[in-house]
Amino acid sequence: MQIECVIGDITKQVDCWAIVNAANPMLLPGAGVAGAIHKAAGPQLEKACEEFAPIEVSQAVVTPGFNLPNFAVIHVLGPKYFHDVDPGGNLAKAIDSVLELANKHQFKDIALPAISTGSYGFPIEEAASIIISRLKAWEKPCPMLVRLVLIDEKAMTVFKGLNDSP
Ligand code: APR
Repeated sequence: MQIECVIGDITKQVDCWAIVNAANPMLLPGAGVAGAIHKAAGPQLEKACEEFAPIEVSQAVVTPGFNLPNFAVIHVLGPKYFHDVDPGGNLAKAIDSVLELANKHQFKDIALPAISTGSYGFPIEEAASIIISRLKAWEKPCPMLVRLVLIDEKAMTVFKGLNDSP
């Protein structure tokens, strides 16, 4: 699997088949990534999410992308760093859940934000280490490309440094 890191907006990844949402349990718009995705996808996304809510920590579900340039959205609930009993283990599971669904639906390329590093309080270095190691361990056919879409230079430096090291 190829892993690339970019600074950007998750809703602007026009060439990715699916994007990943840093969801809340009820799959509602909220702020951050979830707010941006729902805003760009339109109200049909909220309607489509209803049948899946609530989801559990590290669970992932797939919906269409509606007005997004992407065919699908994979919604995943990351752990809250200061409240979860095993934030590291559950972040790893969350990434695996995303990859399992991408493989099941044969999504060749997906765009992934830094799950749990915003409102859910995960330190960026710790999250990056877990996320990159789960991506590097993936051996199933899909996805063939994961694009990590990062908010700023600091996140980019951390993720890219880990991705580039053997
Ligand atoms: N594109 C890419 N990255 C973004 C974007 C965007 N448009 N907006 C925010 N980010 C970054 C944040 O800076 C952070 O590094 O994505 C990371 C994840 O941030 P959050 O969206 O806050 O996700 P998370 O920490 O998993 O918290 C989920 O936030 O808004 C609520 O409803 C959401 O309750 C849920 C919680």
